[in-house]
Amino acid sequence: MAEDMHDVAAARLLEAGRSLVAALDLEVVLERLLETARELTGARYAAIGVLDERRQALERFLTSGIDAANHAAIGDLPRGRGILGVLIEDPRPLVLADVGAHPRSYGFPHGHPPMRTFLGVPIVIRGEAWGNLYLTEKAGGEFGEADVEAITVLADWAAIAIDHAHLYRRSVERSEELERAIEGLEATTAISRALGAETDLGRVLELVVKRGRALVRARVVVLLLADGGRLVAADGAGQIGDAARTASLPVAGTVAGAVLESGRPERIDDVAARFAAADEALGVPGAETALLVPLRSRGRSLGVLCAFDRMDDEPGFGDREEELLLLFAQSAATAVSTARSVEAERLRLSLRSAEQERSRWARELHDETLQGLAALRVLLQSGLKVGGGALEEAARTAAEQVTTEIANLRALITELRPAALDQLGLAAALDGLAQRSREVDGLEVEVKVDVDGETLDPDLRTAVYRLVQEALTNAGRHARAQRVEVRIARVGEGLEVLVADDGRGFDAAAPTEGFGLAGMRERAALMGGTLELGSSAAGTTVRALLPELGTGP
Ligand SMILES: Nc1ncnc2c1ncn2[C@@H]1O[C@H](COP(=O)(O)OP(=O)(O)OP(=O)(O)O)[C@@H](O)[C@H]1O
Ligand SMILES: [Mg+2]
Repeated sequence: MAEDMHDVAAARLLEAGRSLVAALDLEVVLERLLETARELTGARYAAIGVLDERRQALERFLTSGIDAANHAAIGDLPRGRGILGVLIEDPRPLVLADVGAHPRSYGFPHGHPPMRTFLGVPIVIRGEAWGNLYLTEKAGGEFGEADVEAITVLADWAAIAIDHAHLYRRSVERSEELERAIEGLEATTAISRALGAETDLGRVLELVVKRGRALVRARVVVLLLADGGRLVAADGAGQIGDAARTASLPVAGTVAGAVLESGRPERIDDVAARFAAADEALGVPGAETALLVPLRSRGRSLGVLCAFDRMDDEPGFGDREEELLLLFAQSAATAVSTARSVEAERLRLSLRSAEQERSRWARELHDETLQGLAALRVLLQSGLKVGGGALEEAARTAAEQVTTEIANLRALITELRPAALDQLGLAAALDGLAQRSREVDGLEVEVKVDVDGETLDPDLRTAVYRLVQEALTNAGRHARAQRVEVRIARVGEGLEVLVADDGRGFDAAAPTEGFGLAGMRERAALMGGTLELGSSAAGTTVRALLPELGTGP
């Protein structure tokens, strides 16, 4: 019979332990501990005292069995002096038949329910006292050996459960932190990835406003870039009015200007109240809340990213949005400044290649036309000296020479400004180039244009013309080729420009003196494309791939 009782108690204890450990929330664990301890011992009241960090006093005191009215009557909860202090100093089970009779007892405060029998056990987590479990007023007698045993085991279970709950909370906090970090990182990575693929400033700006808007779920995002003493709208996303799209506001005296100059973000809960008159230029109709973050790159303020109103009635912009948008703005700033320098570099390259072209024409004018004119002068001078029939002969020859030089000059002028391209279209202009190669260099030239030149962007058309022109000139001048094939075709999203000769080839990897090949590469790069050069003893192939961005229907 006693054995049975013991088994039942053990089973209850196991059950209690399992239920404690199953709870991951600290408050639930403590509540269950109080209830179970009372149930297992038949105590009327149970309490848990949680030690403070120095383990000298109680930081919390939770009770069970005492109702709210009693609680109010007792007033302040014990801090851990008196009998409770005995357990704090000496964390071992303590059984008393009459608490009030103990020498350390201060007695109970007024309004405290009468308590005589007492059982206290420490809760020790990883070898350190965490708190105590107290039970009082056992029904029908004093706390015995079995109670001490059961409560000691329960306290051990509780220690494990509390430890788990702590760990769990910490890991939840950590994973939330991690999630936020990851979210920010993803946005940053996305911008960096976009940056890697995108050097076109316009596209970068568009990405910044669109991604930024999605990141903080804003109704409207406007990107302002510093320009002189002003902030000028560079792009916007969301339900944005024309005013905001073309906004230009002074740095001085505006909220955005303050963000630009201080480099610190600004959160606004009442746009109408906070925005100064000068800010009105950035008018986003009906905006209530705003979050403005600076775009800074290498210590320089480039602009301000302004987000207005959250979507779907979410509350205004909080710490989290501010943190995310700031993080995002950092990579956005880098992307913008990189795209800007790429743009500057492109401009530099295109100026350089224009310069090189000009010097090439100068050289040709010198070597061909000037030589021809000089020869003409010699001819006319000697004719004048001799006079008579010789003069007539010289004049006739001179007329012929002048005709040739006029043709030469016309050809040069055509090359300087391919008027034919505008007037006749791409295919006819390329045929003109081919005709010249046939006549001047004696090449067999086949031209195949599989695109409608009129649908192409004018810059792209010029690039195609210049590439073919240089490749044909090279084939005529260096290749000793018989045949040249020119092909323009659409491949995927772009255009393929191919010029292949059957000449002697050259070492395409070796550095060259000329401008032609370098100019072709620059031109292809300028259009966002690539240029491949293949050369062998069987001939040379120049192949350019030029994307057709921003054109077509
Ligand atoms: N199709 C080709 N066949 C054989 N050699 C070539 C061909 N194209 C270029 N080359 C070689 O590569 C060199 C560099 O060409 P590039 O066009 O850059 O300069 P260039 O023609 O010499 O001078 P520029 O084009 O400035 O008038 C040429 O001098 C020539 O040796
Ligand atoms: Mg050349």
